[in-house]
Amino acid sequence: MTPMMQQYREAKARHPGMVLLFRMGDFFETFEEDAELVSRVLGLTLTTRDGSIPMAGVPAKSVEHYLRKLLQAGHRVAVCDQVEDAALAKGLVKREVTRVVTPGTVTEDELLEPGRPNHMIALVAARNLYGLAWVEATTGEFCAADVPTDRLADELNRLNAAECLVAEAMLPVLGDRVRAVLPAAVTGRPDWTFDLEMARAALNAHFQVITLTGFGFEDDQACVVAAGALLIYLQETLKASLAHVRRLRPYCADQHLTLDEVTRRSLELTRTLRDGERVGSLLSVVDRTVTAMGARALHDAILSPLAEKAAIDARLDAVEEFLRQTTTRHDLRELLESIPDLQRLTTRVSTGRASPKDLAAVGRVLRLLPTVKAKVAGRHAKLLKELEGRLELCPDLRELLDRGLTDDPPYAPNDGGVIREGYNAELDELRRINREGKDWLARYQAQEITRTGIPSLKVGFNSVHGYYIEVTNAHAAKIPSDYTRRQTLKNAERYITPELKEYEEKVLTAQDRALALELELFTKLRDLVAAETHRLLNTADVLAGLDMLTALAELAASRRYVRPHLVEEPILEIREGRHPVLDQTLPPGTFVPNDVLLGPETGRFWLVTGPNMAGKSVLIKQTALIALLAHVGSFVPAQSAKVGLTDRIFTRVGASDELTRGHSTFMVEMTEAANILNNATAKSLVILDEIGRGTSTYDGVSLAWAITEHLHDVVGCRAMFATHYHELAQLAESLNHLRNYNVQVRELDADVIFLHKIAPGSAERSYGIHVAKLAGVPGPILERASVILAELEARHRLPESQRRPVVDPPERPRKKKPKAEAGPTLFSG
Ligand SMILES: Nc1ncnc2c1ncn2[C@@H]1O[C@H](COP(=O)(O)OP(=O)(O)OP(=O)(O)O)[C@@H](O)[C@H]1O
Ligand SMILES: [Mg+2]
Repeated sequence: MTPMMQQYREAKARHPGMVLLFRMGDFFETFEEDAELVSRVLGLTLTTRDGSIPMAGVPAKSVEHYLRKLLQAGHRVAVCDQVEDAALAKGLVKREVTRVVTPGTVTEDELLEPGRPNHMIALVAARNLYGLAWVEATTGEFCAADVPTDRLADELNRLNAAECLVAEAMLPVLGDRVRAVLPAAVTGRPDWTFDLEMARAALNAHFQVITLTGFGFEDDQACVVAAGALLIYLQETLKASLAHVRRLRPYCADQHLTLDEVTRRSLELTRTLRDGERVGSLLSVVDRTVTAMGARALHDAILSPLAEKAAIDARLDAVEEFLRQTTTRHDLRELLESIPDLQRLTTRVSTGRASPKDLAAVGRVLRLLPTVKAKVAGRHAKLLKELEGRLELCPDLRELLDRGLTDDPPYAPNDGGVIREGYNAELDELRRINREGKDWLARYQAQEITRTGIPSLKVGFNSVHGYYIEVTNAHAAKIPSDYTRRQTLKNAERYITPELKEYEEKVLTAQDRALALELELFTKLRDLVAAETHRLLNTADVLAGLDMLTALAELAASRRYVRPHLVEEPILEIREGRHPVLDQTLPPGTFVPNDVLLGPETGRFWLVTGPNMAGKSVLIKQTALIALLAHVGSFVPAQSAKVGLTDRIFTRVGASDELTRGHSTFMVEMTEAANILNNATAKSLVILDEIGRGTSTYDGVSLAWAITEHLHDVVGCRAMFATHYHELAQLAESLNHLRNYNVQVRELDADVIFLHKIAPGSAERSYGIHVAKLAGVPGPILERASVILAELEARHRLPESQRRPVVDPPERPRKKKPKAEAGPTLFSG
């Protein structure tokens, strides 16, 4: 094996489970099984080295781009770089792993999405529950909670982690159900890092406490083990102080409105159902934040709304104040817009990865803070007062950065031009030597031209030969005796003189020393900023909060949202409610608002019928979204809204296959229904969009019927159920709290006009054939369907004793084949 492959194998062995990128000249190469993997994931050509070793490489220039792709595919990567100048190396170039990047621990902006948190989690199985801990490595947010087995999937989906740690021993025994909700990158870790004593020791040492009780944990909770394992992993991969991880917070599910995975998806909170894009989601229409910090805060707030009235009202008060104070709001937003991502900047500083540009950005934030504070000062809302109080100006740090850094420092700290004139006397002196040297050079050239009488004589510099005097061959005779030849060109000779040599030494050393000194000063400056991590992150939280609150106020102002009134009683009274997404995407004035009044007097279970395309799905979904926005502390799209506190919102819509999980369409539907039936409480809001459609008509009606009765009688929750099973309307006679509503249409000649307006009572027809026509189903099929429908309806109205099962089709017109062989499920589903 060549010495270089030896070097490769050693580095590779020290980073098990990682793809090793190995620097060779202008490329990062991968070998052996890594090369095969990388060529597959990145679509690179696979070549060989030394005859038989598979190899694939990427240009060093664009390595970030490839890193990003590898991370997205769930791989962990170690970057092994050349740590000495190849030109100067004697023998094999020295190489070291300078960076370890994993999906959950990346902190580089170019590898991350700005407005979305990047979570890393650790999972521990305990008796009938899971210990779960998560960290946002770029912001230092660190939480843990013991999660009952049946809630695990919901929590994991909420976190949508980039990477998950589990103990090696647990890897093979992870059940399929857990595996299905884990991220692509599952990292097995040595079992000792998942030991309670080890975990506790690591946490206690990091936070400098002797017990975690102060953070609100029992010392032997399963989630403490997970948190410890996570911390140890971060320390190893980031190889840094982790000062930005300031505390471990217990996550209390009851302080939050619970949204299960299906509900989050069905309501299209952050992504659409259809294509998984952000455009068209709730977040995409309500997000008016102007900073990445605010965007992440809003993202979290929507996925995890509040459940406590006081907390919600506090946010609403703040939003209301910003709504009224238009000028303050605009000024603040304008200010915030120019503020860089202080959370991620601070993390890069505290993990020793910040560039001079990053430090300058911190300085820029600090310079803007006094104006921000002045704008927030004097507000009345409690939350705003609290935010103002927590905003730390760090004047000492600002002064230091202003004095220390140039206005526009470069990205790389060893390029020079980082430290400002006047900050360090020695550096100033070295720079002076440099500058004066340049003047000297010009004077020297002029002097030599006069002395030798060669007008074209030139003093120059090149990196191999240093300084020289160049004289063309035409003047060779005039060369003075103190010139020593250094280099011969085609038409000229280059010389050196003792004076020039002396100058060279002085200037070059000064330059080298200046660069080294700048690097040293920069590192010191960075460490001083790192020492303030705590205050900076606190301030970043405040900025995120201010951005989110002003953004919600801006939303309310621009879309005419109103303040919801939160009450303890289980009611929901929305007048003239609108769907937040359609309200913005349909042409202005075309969306038809509707009232929804759920409560003891108005019926807490609304059964909504109506033709296809009438607007049932829109109506029930908008109701859920308005209730949810109210719990986020946002104003809502309605004329008025009284919202009873809700512990959970459940939504299930349409049918989706999860064939990969081995579930058929109907199986998925029933699993989702089972989850609702098992977990909904009297304080929940349940939104059902069709249930039992994926099976035969009779099975479907019966299930829908029984589910309705159960939710009504046993659970007693607020509910809306949109359905085409008109039979269910009869339930209003036996169920006290159930009311029938229908979304109306008007028939005009042969056409149907969709009014999108809700009215009491149930619909009689679905107008399915009409909608099929709109969808482009061919004419002959529509005619035939109309005939069948007319017959079926006629038969249906016969007394029950004489009725034949609905599923028998009427006879075909004579001239076709004698007997139709229709399957029994022709009209089902
Ligand atoms: N209130 C409204 N104002 C304006 N347009 C609406 C309104 N409600 C619905 N629409 C429009 O009608 C379309 C169909 O609405 P929706 O999906 O709610 O119908 P549906 O009653 O659920 O039909 P189906 O029974 O076929 O599921 C929507 O995509 C929207 O464009
Ligand atoms: Mg629908």
